[in-house]
Amino acid sequence: MSSTSQSTALYGGKAGRRITVRDIAAAKERGEKWPMVTAYDAMTARVFDEAGIPVMLVGDSAAMVVYGYDSTLPVTVDDLLPLTAAVVRGSSRAMVVADLPFGSYQSSPQQALETAARFMKEAGAHAVKLEGGRRVLPQVEALVSAGIPVMAHLGLTPQSVNVFGGYRVQGRGQAGEELMADAKDLQAAGAFSVVLECVPADLAERVTTSLAIPTIGIGAGPATDAQVLVWQDLMGLTPHPAKFVKQYFNLHEAMDRAVRAFAEEVVSGAFPTPAHSYS
Ligand code: KIV
Repeated sequence: MSSTSQSTALYGGKAGRRITVRDIAAAKERGEKWPMVTAYDAMTARVFDEAGIPVMLVGDSAAMVVYGYDSTLPVTVDDLLPLTAAVVRGSSRAMVVADLPFGSYQSSPQQALETAARFMKEAGAHAVKLEGGRRVLPQVEALVSAGIPVMAHLGLTPQSVNVFGGYRVQGRGQAGEELMADAKDLQAAGAFSVVLECVPADLAERVTTSLAIPTIGIGAGPATDAQVLVWQDLMGLTPHPAKFVKQYFNLHEAMDRAVRAFAEEVVSGAFPTPAHSYS
């Protein structure tokens, strides 16, 4: 292990090793913006890793985009562990962050530590993410003091959708001041970064300039240090994406075209040809 490894540009830099929390802190100091995407399997993780994505999140959004539930609440630790392990195996440079699912950390710091330790030991995750502000500070402190890097998550925290009464913008008015206080407390508790989901752009900008740790925006405007999207959203696979999603490709259309071409060639007998057969 090298004790002198230099910090690297998060996107476009050549690390020759995994991105670490030190690289992420150094990027904030340099004022460098960086991308994060979700990943849930080895092959897509490999594509994103080779493209230079420095941080991949095995989100509890897997509940919806992998397992087909209509919220993130039903997914379990046992559901997410093999996905996290696959993303770690499929990548060699990105930091892989495991999302702690609903019910796996809220009841106590001890519960959070036991869950996070499973993601680190059984799946090889490099960090964990959990949702919430001051109410999870004891959990964040316990994880950090056990040597586990913690990514926090404020604003529209989907595990609390039933308290919010739907997927709505958070942090308007006085709630914005509370979110700011939560962010500062999470930083003081040792979180290395904080996701800001669906909050007004000016609030996200204020939080970003007030914190020494990076903010990662999703529906939080352009001022955050990083941006994250669920990969199925950015690739155009999600049928009704949120307003904050930009679709960079129409994967749904491309897959539809390809699978129909395959089906038609099977029916017509055009596939397989001798080129796809063994003698
Ligand atoms: O689960 C997830 O994918 C997330 C991101 C959207 C931040 O929490």
